[in-house]
Amino acid sequence: MTAPSTPAIATLSDLRSHVARWRAAGETVALVPTMGALHEGHLALVAEARTLARRVVVSIFVNPTQFGPSEDFSVYPRDLAADLAALARAEADAAWTPDVAAMYPPGFATRIEVAGLTDGLCGPLRPGHFSGVATVVTKLLAQVGPDVALFGQKDFQQLRVIQQVAADLDLPVRIHGVPTLREPDGLALSSRNRYLTEAERQVAPALQAALAAVAEATRGGAPVAGPLAEATARLTAAGFTVQYLAVCDARTLAPVERVSAPARVFVAAYLGRTRLIDNIPV
Ligand code: PAF
Repeated sequence: MTAPSTPAIATLSDLRSHVARWRAAGETVALVPTMGALHEGHLALVAEARTLARRVVVSIFVNPTQFGPSEDFSVYPRDLAADLAALARAEADAAWTPDVAAMYPPGFATRIEVAGLTDGLCGPLRPGHFSGVATVVTKLLAQVGPDVALFGQKDFQQLRVIQQVAADLDLPVRIHGVPTLREPDGLALSSRNRYLTEAERQVAPALQAALAAVAEATRGGAPVAGPLAEATARLTAAGFTVQYLAVCDARTLAPVERVSAPARVFVAAYLGRTRLIDNIPV
């Protein structure tokens, strides 16, 4: 028997009639926002979504407003046919595939800014990024109207920003974080891993090893500065250009000197031309 296909829905009116039909039948709806280039990490989000709601919509939209001028928007991997085939295997009910003109028609003038949570980590390094994410996710939530929306913890700062937006704007949706899926050698799954050369791919798991070393050394409340300096030196020696390695409060994302409340270790580093991020709980 062939697997049922996942329809690609490209207009808002079509999306709304699908969702209205499901709602009329009393069905719940989950949204998994993505930029496509789907990998097993995304499919794990879809699998989890299927346990949380009767219907699962996966949005595929490479959002221009969250890329900086020197970032990879124009070359970001796009393969709708492969994504739809993966979504059919994962039994997603619909792919929401708006185009840029429909998302940002002429005259579009709204930006959502989240203070505090975006002050550190990727915030200062990617000006406008989280505002772009917050704005597009708010639109996606308004378009689909899901009961629950799922986001990977690999982008933990993004997850916290979206939780803040949903709480502050009283959005009637549950924001659900899903633990990071990893390769057997520890590398977090990411659409950008495909940019790594073979040699870089061999080195890349050192990122997760550095996080684990810092988490281990700081778990009991010891000062974080020493373990962070050691791990940064090891990553640099391995060929990474470290943008940040920090231990931060898991709720506020403010850096901590010692761990006394739920905290996570965060890293962003370039390996060659590829920017990798990762984080783990302490
Ligand atoms: O994590 C992503 O893929 C994107 O930032 C998101 C949440 C789909 C918004 O464009």
